[in-house]
Amino acid sequence: MEKVVTVNKITPLDYPVLDSIKNRWSPRMFSTKPITDAEVKKLLEAGRWAPSASNIQPWRVIWGIKGTNMYDRIFDCLDEFNQSWAGNSQVLWINAFKKTMEKSDKENFHALHDLGLFMGNVIHQANSMGIAVHQMAGVQFKKAQKEFNFTDDYHVATAVAFGYFGGDPDGLPDDLKKKELKEMRQRKEQDEFAFNGNFQNKNQFLT
Ligand SMILES: Cc1cc2nc3c(=O)[nH]c(=O)nc-3n(C[C@H](O)[C@H](O)[C@H](O)COP(=O)(O)O)c2cc1C
Repeated sequence: MEKVVTVNKITPLDYPVLDSIKNRWSPRMFSTKPITDAEVKKLLEAGRWAPSASNIQPWRVIWGIKGTNMYDRIFDCLDEFNQSWAGNSQVLWINAFKKTMEKSDKENFHALHDLGLFMGNVIHQANSMGIAVHQMAGVQFKKAQKEFNFTDDYHVATAVAFGYFGGDPDGLPDDLKKKELKEMRQRKEQDEFAFNGNFQNKNQFLT
């Protein structure tokens, strides 16, 4: 029988926030329950309605469902580390953004910001559906750019793994399994990044 472990992560809040923010985390194990085309379209619809500078909507997505050639092509563009776990997911996608404005070659300085907002909407929608999201910077960018025919005015930014929460931690390499099952989550304190006054450099590295 399939082994399913649900990890109850602890999020130490200083102030109460929405449950969907508190309960979100980025697993590397996922349920074997498939994600359907219609569910992917729902996630994309949530992203579609994100705000963006001048409504340019610079985000572009390449997606594939497990068991299809598209999924395999995306998987082959991940880096070695992410390939060690991302095959547990049911959907993979690649995020790119248009680097320039709509009607000129001028740089759209806010494009990466807007892709982040797009993903924020996607994560919220996914969480409400019981679908976990794990974003990845570890992508072979040049390979992905070529594989999916992106022209030079686009930049491949990240990849994303999706799957229903709950999975088998034994499917992970030992070090990742340990991290996956660690319950306490960590964040910087608010006074390290938000100032009701001048900026103060309080950089600290969280392990
Ligand atoms: C833009 C971005 C890139 C990331 N890249 C990777 C990655 O390549 N591999 C990975 O395992 N996790 C990656 N992560 C996941 C982060 O490590 C994770 O979000 C962070 O540790 C906070 O944990 P939480 O999402 O569970 O709260 C990435 C997250 C973001 C937002």
